[in-house]
Amino acid sequence: MTRPTSPEEGGPRHVAIIMDGNGRWATMRGRPRLFGHHAGARRVREIVESCPDYGVKYLTIFAFSTENWKRTQVEVAGLMSLFRRYIMKEMQAFVKENVRVRFIGDRPRLDAKLRGLMDEAEKMTEHCTGTNLTIALNYGGRDEVARATQRLAQDVADGKLKPEDVCEETLPRYLDTCVLPDPDLVIRTSGEARISNFLLWQSAYSEYEFVDTLWPDFAPEEFGRLCAAYGKRDRRFGAVKV
Ligand code: IPE
Ligand code: IPE
Ligand code: MG
Repeated sequence: MTRPTSPEEGGPRHVAIIMDGNGRWATMRGRPRLFGHHAGARRVREIVESCPDYGVKYLTIFAFSTENWKRTQVEVAGLMSLFRRYIMKEMQAFVKENVRVRFIGDRPRLDAKLRGLMDEAEKMTEHCTGTNLTIALNYGGRDEVARATQRLAQDVADGKLKPEDVCEETLPRYLDTCVLPDPDLVIRTSGEARISNFLLWQSAYSEYEFVDTLWPDFAPEEFGRLCAAYGKRDRRFGAVKV
């Protein structure tokens, strides 16, 4: 068992996960891709519940990207129905576990029923002070920056913001993640070593871990090992240690 690492000991305060490999996990078993998505969804709760053990205060998970609409209608519809059912089924447990749930991504493209459930989940857990779980749903980093820029431009047009005041500190206030710290560690499962449009702005200085495990097999022990390994990394942010 990996010894828990808290942020005070150099553990990550915010971990973001690209939960990849559900489809391959199902295909390997001769089952439809959605079978893998259901198995993947079941994995989420135990990772969330293990966060306090590893000192992780913020967990952000990539559930559906702005590019995932390119998949078959059957897979997209199955995923949307899974998200609806997931929220209905898991919310009571998250309230009980003191988990604060938030969603990031472009909501208008999602159906009204799902949007309603997302709002409800955020409201229901508003008072929770434990782990901050953020679910990225219809999320794309470029889309997020574009939407943020649109709102920023509107504020400039309305005279609320001067163009010369736009700087590195201004733009993040318009991002979906405005209330979250930047991720310290980004994990991607399934052996792919790419970022696939996840948290582009926010992960500028994140540490990365790419692991071969397919998401439905990703267990809290492996999560703990990656958090502990993070504690041994030397983050320099461009500076030189003297
Ligand atoms: C990740 O698993 C979940 C979503 C993108 C919704 P995939 O569905 O991408 O699984 P693979 O990469 O095809 O195995
Ligand atoms: C990224 O995985 C999106 C999610 C995990 C939700 P993808 O499987 O969609 O990414 P690519 O297509 O391999 O880059
Ligand atoms: Mg994939």
